[in-house]
This record gives sequence, structure tokens and C-alpha cells, in this order.
Amino acid sequence: MKIEVKARNRAHAFDAEPGSRVLYAGLGQAIDLPYECGSGTCGTCKARLLSGEIDDLWPEAPGRKYLKQADEFLMCQCAARGPLSIEVASFVEDLEPDVCIPRAASGRIVAARLLTHDVMSLRIALAAPLSFDAGQFVLVQVPGIDGYRGWSMVNHAKDALELDFVIKKKPDGKLSDWLFSATPAGTAVELFGPLGAATFYPELDKNILCIAGGSGIAGMMSILERAARADYFASHDGDVFFGVRSMKDAFFLDEFSRLRAACGERLRVTIAFSEEPASDALRASHPLLQFETGFVHEVAGRGMQGRYQGVRAYLAGPPPAVDACVRMLLMARVSTDNIRYDKFS
Ligand code: FES
Repeated sequence: MKIEVKARNRAHAFDAEPGSRVLYAGLGQAIDLPYECGSGTCGTCKARLLSGEIDDLWPEAPGRKYLKQADEFLMCQCAARGPLSIEVASFVEDLEPDVCIPRAASGRIVAARLLTHDVMSLRIALAAPLSFDAGQFVLVQVPGIDGYRGWSMVNHAKDALELDFVIKKKPDGKLSDWLFSATPAGTAVELFGPLGAATFYPELDKNILCIAGGSGIAGMMSILERAARADYFASHDGDVFFGVRSMKDAFFLDEFSRLRAACGERLRVTIAFSEEPASDALRASHPLLQFETGFVHEVAGRGMQGRYQGVRAYLAGPPPAVDACVRMLLMARVSTDNIRYDKFS
């Protein structure tokens, strides 16, 4: 059935299967509809229903708080019952020809391992290869648990048969309760992706600044791996600021040390502990990394002073932390086009 979209710049039309979410149907046909999380929390995919009928697949979606009128709905959580005419407030373009077009996929969890007391590394083997850019995420749905969750890939490959993730345990999160209390290996999952505009490719020709809190570091690892493989830090600067609360919350320190050793001095990695200073033993065991105390955006602000020229910034973490980083970067006159972020709660 046909879905017509009116946007500020133009009108579009695309087909949708009965029951498919409006956002996923449009993105799957290379229509760049507005979205951020794709999973019902941010409200960015808000649209107005001009005609037709929809089913709301998750009436309790937190992103519904951004709906102000009765005819507004979240494209990522609603499916068309028949032909629709809808309106979105922002611009809509065709996706660039070289971006990876998102699609539905299926796979199986094949490995799960605790990295800290509340962070897990997870691997999903796909039934068919999936191409994605460094820094992107997929939406994952586990049988028996409502809705999709957005997880950023740690690895990077063009035709990947395996996706690696870092998952943080959420208080009262149904999915994370299950992941952290059961043995998830062997579970079949449904996916949609890849998604996200916080992407890196070597032709970018910019210095890289990554600021991440907790499991937000996943997409940054994908970017760093991609950059390291292209020998990017032989000709560009890279600054990584990774924030966690305390030493018991830290992970990927060995991976950072390995990357730093492979990429040389133009890649600088700083671990920011917000609640305690790093111990001498930790510093001694990771001599190529820098350790600071404070919130990650404050540590990054001090470390980057006067060094924002030619930077593309990637940010990931809880919304207040990302917002603080965006304000800092705008004050430093980094253009909005060079500030890419993923917020997660
Ligand atoms: Fe739909 Fe975030 S993209 S609520």
C-alpha cells in the first residue's frame, strides 16, 4: 500500500507491507525520513496523520511525550492499516547512493560475556551478510520482549556475518534483566538496520574527536577500528575521551592500548573517571593511555582547548551528557555538520 509523505521541501511516496512500521518501510526504500533512535524514545520521527488509519504498536513508547496534537504519531512505532497521507516537519531527502540501505534481518546470539558487573559483550551471527558504516547501529528485537532496542556495532565490516555489541544493564529494563540473568546464547533475534548518521569513512579527511560515556563507546570502537585499518592516524589526529564512573566500570582498556600502540602518537586516548582517580597500578598497566578525573565532557573540554580546527566530533551516551558535549562543541565553533551523536537512555 502507498504512503505519501509531505515534507517542507518536497513530497515523497513509498510502499509499505501491511503491519510494517512506517519509518522502517520508508528508510528501507531509501527515503531519508527523520529519526534518531528508531526505537520509540526520542520523538524525532513525529509525523502528522493527514488521512488513513494506523495501528500504534507501542502505545507506552516514551517518545509519545513529544506528541502535542491528537493527529500526531511516531513513525517508528506505528504501522499503516491501508494507504496513508502523512506530514513531517523536517526536510526529507533520498538517501545518498553510497549509504547502506537499512533492511530487516535475522540472526542468533552466539556469544555473551560480562565485561564488568553491568556491561556485557554480545555477538550475533546473521543469517545473511549485512553491510554497515563504522559508527552505525541496528535495532534488535528478542522474542517475548516488546519493541526494538538500538545497539551500536563494535566491529566494522562491509558484508558482516557477525555483529559485536556492548550492552549496559539498565535498571528495570526488561531486555537487560533477561540478558543479565539468563544465558542468551542460542536465542534467535530479529533486526532492522543499519541506522544512524554518526558514521566515519576515511575519505572524510578530518581529525576525529570521540567522546563517549559507558556503552556509548561501542560505535567509537567501530570508527577507531575502521580508521586504524586505513592507517588514518598517520595523517590525522584522533582524540578519544571515554567516561565511566570508577575503575570497576572500565572496560576495553586493553583494546585501547592495542589501538594506541598500532596507531602511534597522533591517537590519544583518555579515560575519565567521574567518581575516583585512577590508581597507580592501573596507570602502570596501561602506560599508553591517559587517565583523568571528572565528567567526560569536562575532561574533553580541558583536553581539547584550542584544538578544534578541522575536527569531526562523534558523541554517544545518556542525553544530558551528549547535550553538554554539543553545547561545548558549539561554543568552540565546531559546525553542526561536524557534530554527530547517538543519545541513549
Ligand atoms: Fe521514533 Fe526516536 S525515531 S521515537
